[in-house]
Amino acid sequence: MRTDVAIIGAGPAGLLLAHLLAAEGIESIVLETRTQEYVAARIRAGILEDSSVALLRSAGLGAGIDAYGDEHRGIYLQWPRERHHLDFTALTGHSVWVYGQTQLQDDLVAASAAAQRQVIYGASGTALHDVDTGRPSVTFTGSDGNPQRIEALAIAGCDGSFGPSRDAMPATGQRTWERVYPYSWLGILADVPPSTDELIYAWHPEGFALHSMRSDTVSRLYLQVPNGTDAADWSHDQIWDALATRLGHGESGWRLTPGPITEKSVLPMRSFVQAPMRHGRLFLAGDAAHIVPPTGAKGLNLAIADVALLAPALGLLLRKQDAALADAYSETALRRVWRCEHFSWWMTSMLHTTDDPFDAQLQLSQLRWVTASQAGAAGLAENYAGLPIGF
Ligand code: FAD
Ligand code: PHB
Repeated sequence: MRTDVAIIGAGPAGLLLAHLLAAEGIESIVLETRTQEYVAARIRAGILEDSSVALLRSAGLGAGIDAYGDEHRGIYLQWPRERHHLDFTALTGHSVWVYGQTQLQDDLVAASAAAQRQVIYGASGTALHDVDTGRPSVTFTGSDGNPQRIEALAIAGCDGSFGPSRDAMPATGQRTWERVYPYSWLGILADVPPSTDELIYAWHPEGFALHSMRSDTVSRLYLQVPNGTDAADWSHDQIWDALATRLGHGESGWRLTPGPITEKSVLPMRSFVQAPMRHGRLFLAGDAAHIVPPTGAKGLNLAIADVALLAPALGLLLRKQDAALADAYSETALRRVWRCEHFSWWMTSMLHTTDDPFDAQLQLSQLRWVTASQAGAAGLAENYAGLPIGF
């Protein structure tokens, strides 16, 4: 097979890149190791920033968000006996949208099918070749067992944190940075209307908790748990009891309504960056290049921001043989990546309890400051809701 850009990975980064490239007049083939159903069912992120929503709308992908998305002005931050609302819209003029990654994935799959773009599911043994030449290629085994090759002018590695693209970068000249946190999240999806109008981030001596949502009838909640926790060890009653305690059920008349849990899983927390995000004709985007802990709700937004920069860069490179944007891609993308890495690390460190009582006092002092000071609140709001794509 031949195409302009071989895209590895049909997650949000890969499918959105294919969509944006098509608008630039650039052809692509997307290669995915999983089945379409598996990718569509993965429960992951839930929050889109203003700039992500603006980009999706301008690309003609806003209909689902307009019909089913829920615009939020801000979040609640709390610790025992205190809950404070941070109004991002008043503080920065920006809002966020509750719109699940599964919904966005459906929109992207529908757009891809409507435009009859080629997405190959069920590929195995994906390997990248000749990435430092003008004629790179990708080989794989199709779901029918036949070996295949895609010859392209460029490769976009959108294959998440475990894909082969990151390792296809030459070791010399590459750097990685990593932080592994000593806790994980136990996440649940529940068929119950949210007990809150906007997300609640809760510091509690027993551990962090987050009340998020997917719709008027579906809630998404998380609990800080030790690394190595098996989700099966937590009964549904234990989960709702811990959520009630940490989220402050009964305080100032607020109640957490439990309901049937439909999904439950444990998510380890990691910060990771690999740079540069380009070598020759191989460009990394999204989780393939960087991971953030989910506390800042940045992972999906960063993937969208990367491909929003990469599509015009590839457009200029392949249509006009002008490498200016392609040459600047890694440095430009990494500015936003590192801002989000810092913000996600900072939110994580402020909200997750450790064994150290000194940490707890620093965290509470920081929480009091970001909720009491206009400058503190605006800083959090700007990072959470207000980063432009090309920050
Ligand atoms: P992905 O969505 O990971 O897509 C990469 C794709 O590449 C996958 O479909 C994968 O199957 C495919 N692939 C891998 N290897 C190959 C190969 N060899 N050949 C072909 N294809 C391949 N972020 C938040 O902001 N909030 C959250 O609550 C949140 N929860 C998360 C929960 C989990 C379990 C995980 C893993 C991530 C979560 N994230 C969350 C992060 C967010 O979902 C990601 O940042 C986002 O999915 C990044 O999109 P992506 O397209 O870069 O990568
Ligand atoms: C989610 O809804 O899954 C979610 C929301 C906010 C976060 C993390 C996850 O910070």
